[in-house]
Amino acid sequence: MRDRFETERLLLRPLEQRDAAAIHRHCQDGSIARFTAHIPAPYPVLAVELYILSVRAGAGNRNRFAYAVTGKDDDRLVGACGIFKRNAAATHWEIGYWVGPEAQGRGIASEAAAGLVEAARADLAPDRLVAGHFEDNPASGRVLEKLGFAYTGETTRLFSMGRMAYATSRDMALAV
Ligand SMILES: CC(C)(COP(=O)(O)OP(=O)(O)OC[C@H]1O[C@@H](n2cnc3c(N)ncnc32)[C@H](O)[C@@H]1OP(=O)(O)O)[C@@H](O)C(=O)NCCC(=O)NCCS
Repeated sequence: MRDRFETERLLLRPLEQRDAAAIHRHCQDGSIARFTAHIPAPYPVLAVELYILSVRAGAGNRNRFAYAVTGKDDDRLVGACGIFKRNAAATHWEIGYWVGPEAQGRGIASEAAAGLVEAARADLAPDRLVAGHFEDNPASGRVLEKLGFAYTGETTRLFSMGRMAYATSRDMALAV
């Protein structure tokens, strides 16, 4: 999978240590974390730095590709997205994304995720992409529907570090 690509307004590039402060700032009110599985709340800068280090250290394993989402012209991080296999036994690629509170509602998640799906189609040639969203996060369901994902009718109980609790995620899939 390529390590950077552009969409109409955005650049998706590798995460770098200098992104830690922006990620911390976007995630500090906990509103991102509660709708994801792996972002904790609070999310101190040091924890973000360790996360970025672990992503960079694992860049060679080819099972997880993470991207900073920035403006094409200003390189300001507005969110992040990625494509990964959930565990060693997983056969399908899964996508995930978040957009900072100040940048939401401007089509950024839709544009970044559409670019990610297009790049994955070309580079990974998957039969099927999967994704999911917690039941109380319909905005993410809308993003996925706009990309062509459909509900499978199944749900998964996932632990959300932002809630420190399990929550029900609605599974979606896209045949590609
Ligand atoms: C969900 C999230 C990624 C959306 O980011 P965004 O950049 O605002 O998304 P977009 O603007 O591209 O699209 C959002 C869509 O959801 C719709 N929407 C917003 N709130 C909604 C709601 N409560 N119910 C249904 N649809 C909703 C918007 O109208 C828009 O659809 P439209 O283009 O048809 O009008 C962002 O809110 C976020 O990061 N949330 C926290 C983390 C998260 O949920 N990540 C995804 C985990 S599955």
